[in-house]
This record gives sequence, structure tokens and C-alpha cells, in this order.
Amino acid sequence: MSKRADIPESKVIPFSAPSLGEDEVRAVAEALRSGAVGGDGPLGKALALRMGERFGIRHVLLTPSATHALELALQVADIGPDDEVVLPSFTFVSVANAVLRRGARPVFAEISDATLDLDPDRLEEVVTPRTRAVIPAHYGGVGAPMERYQEIAGRQGIRVIEDAAQGLGARRGGRWLGGFGDMAGFSFHETKNLTCGEGGAFLTQRDDLFKRAEVIYEKGTNRSQFFRGEVDKYTWIGPGGSYVLSDILAALLGVQLDRMEALHAARRRVFERYQAGLSDLAREGKLQLPVIPDVCEPNWHVFYVRLPSGEERDRVLAEMRRRGIMCTFHFVPLHSSPFGSAQLGYREGDLPVTEAVSRTLLRLPLHAGLTDEDVSRVIEAMGEVVRGR
Ligand SMILES: Cc1ncc(COP(=O)(O)O)c(C=O)c1O
Repeated sequence: MSKRADIPESKVIPFSAPSLGEDEVRAVAEALRSGAVGGDGPLGKALALRMGERFGIRHVLLTPSATHALELALQVADIGPDDEVVLPSFTFVSVANAVLRRGARPVFAEISDATLDLDPDRLEEVVTPRTRAVIPAHYGGVGAPMERYQEIAGRQGIRVIEDAAQGLGARRGGRWLGGFGDMAGFSFHETKNLTCGEGGAFLTQRDDLFKRAEVIYEKGTNRSQFFRGEVDKYTWIGPGGSYVLSDILAALLGVQLDRMEALHAARRRVFERYQAGLSDLAREGKLQLPVIPDVCEPNWHVFYVRLPSGEERDRVLAEMRRRGIMCTFHFVPLHSSPFGSAQLGYREGDLPVTEAVSRTLLRLPLHAGLTDEDVSRVIEAMGEVVRGR
């Protein structure tokens, strides 16, 4: 990658930046002063209820990350050795790790070239009698075709675990993401639209799955039942882990949830300016803009373009960064990674759409803190760099 031009740090446009203000500082200070620091405490419980009401989800458990939420979901689904779980190769590595941690085998399926989520027309190619679950993701906060996956999963008798790590606050067909699957996970990592540094949520609409989840969530005990007054002491009743979020972080996250509309409006403004500002380049065939199906109301999590070749993407990426504009690529396919090839037997060429998308995709800076001037600078630089000036 070429060296950055002599640009003062104050002129560098970061790829992503959390939006944290005095309200977040006050909320954390109040939590500390009141002694609300434990996991699954009063602040976290109240926030989980509020989040459930906000997004039409019956049960919410706040977790330390989406990774934890997905691990919890796979344990609730009783996934084990000899089972197979289908997921995109073009996704975050945590999803495959969550499958491995159950002793099961991750099986990679192809994505759609238009929307970069699991291709429902290709999904059944990889379903076998051992398949127990599928984990689709909403790439960039644009709702994936959940109704198609659910139809296939219902027919095949497998569970849908919805990876809504990027999907909070977005809708498909008027329904909030996170509420479709048998279980789902949100992420509040520092790069996500709402953040508490590291955090997540386990979600389910189903009472039976929630009953199992809350035991695993609380170290394999019936502590949750005890706090509801359903048993007079709590004890170990099965295998579990510690999946709770501290109230200090829940306090911070509560403020972020209050600010969701404003944060999304700011992101949308940037997204739409990029879309309009780069439309000439798209018309000239120099790049492709993201596709948002009519049925989707996104949360403006990612703005990406696709360049005509991997070499061109690498050139544009290096030149934008040299100008102090921190563009970046995205997921490196899991199937052709060192682990995917050595341990799971995949090869380069097995998933051509995934490989081409990964090689040609470039993400532009997108966060609520970008100024109009920053956005103009990004658009102008893209014009110059892509046209080779
Ligand atoms: C699609 C997807 N799934 C899962 C995760 C894991 O989220 P977390 O960092 O909260 O564990 C991420 C985070 O980047 C993600 O983008």
C-alpha cells in the first residue's frame, strides 16, 4: 500500500467512529455512583425490556457481544458434533467459530451478487441430512430475504439463527430485523451504529427457546426464575456459561438507543450524498453502487462500492488512504482462509461470487460524525482516483 501523503492527523477522515457524548458520560457516571455495575442488573434488565418493545421482539438478553449471542443460540439449539450449520463465507469469523465451539461443522453457502447476503436459490445445494441450522446475515444493515430462508428451513426441518449483528433498527417488509429467526443476535461493537464498546443481544420470539437460553445465560442456573420469585433458591440445573452484560455498559447503551433515530438520520444523509455524488461514476461503468431492495428500510450501516477488478479496488483503496481517507475492504472469505482450506477442505474457486465480491468491494467512511465537508472531500477524491487523475 502506498505511503500516506503528508496529511495532518486532523485532516484524516476515519472509516468509523463511535458517537459518544456527554449524555453517555453522565449515564455511566450515574451507574457507577449508584453501584449498578453487576451483570444482568436492573439497568440491563430494563434496557432489554425496552429493546424488545422497541423492535417487537418477545425476549431479549443483553450479552457481551454478538459473538456471545450466537454461541448462546447454538447451545440453545443443541447443535453438537456431527451436525452441520450453513453460513455465508462472506461474513465475520465469529459466526464460524460459534459453530466450531459446538463441535459442529461450518458449511459455507454462496451469496447473492446483488445484495451480498445468502443466496436463497443456492442454499439447498449445501443442505444435507446433517444440517441443523442456517445463520444468514443482513449485510450492511439491509434486510436479507428471511422469508425465503424460513420457507426453506421449514421444509428442511432446520433452525434459522439470524445474524442481525449489523441489522439493528432496519426493517424488511415493515418488520424489524432481529425478529425473524428462531433466535437472533445484535452487536454493539464500537464499529456498529449503536455501541457500548463491546456488547450484543440474544433475541428470540419463542418462549420455549428463551426458557433454555436464560439458564445457559446465567451459568447453567435457574437464577432468573429465582429473581422472578418462581423458586425459593437458585441452583445448577444444566450446562451454561456467563453471557451477561455489565450494567455500566447497559447504562451507556440505553443512551445510544435513545439516540438511534438521530444517529441513523446522520448516517442516511452521508449515504445518500455518496449515492448521488458517485452516480456519474456508476453510469460510466467505473464502479457499482449498493443495491437496496424496495422491501428494505436499511439502517445505513455500510456504504460500499464495487470496482471492476481486484487490482483496481486495491489501487483505489491505497490511493484514497494515501489522501487520508480511510476506506477499507471487508470480509476475507472464510472458506479460502488458512483454517477454511486446511481444516475444512475448501479451495479458492469453490464460491466464485463470494471471492469476486470480497476482492472488488471497497467501503467508504460512514459514521454520524462526518461533516458535509468530509463527505464532499470523499466524493471528490473518489472521482479523481477512479478516473485516474
Ligand atoms: C455479520 C457479523 N456477525 C457477527 C459479528 C460479531 O459481532 P461482535 O463483534 O459483537 O461479536 C459481526 C461484527 O463485526 C458481524 O459483522
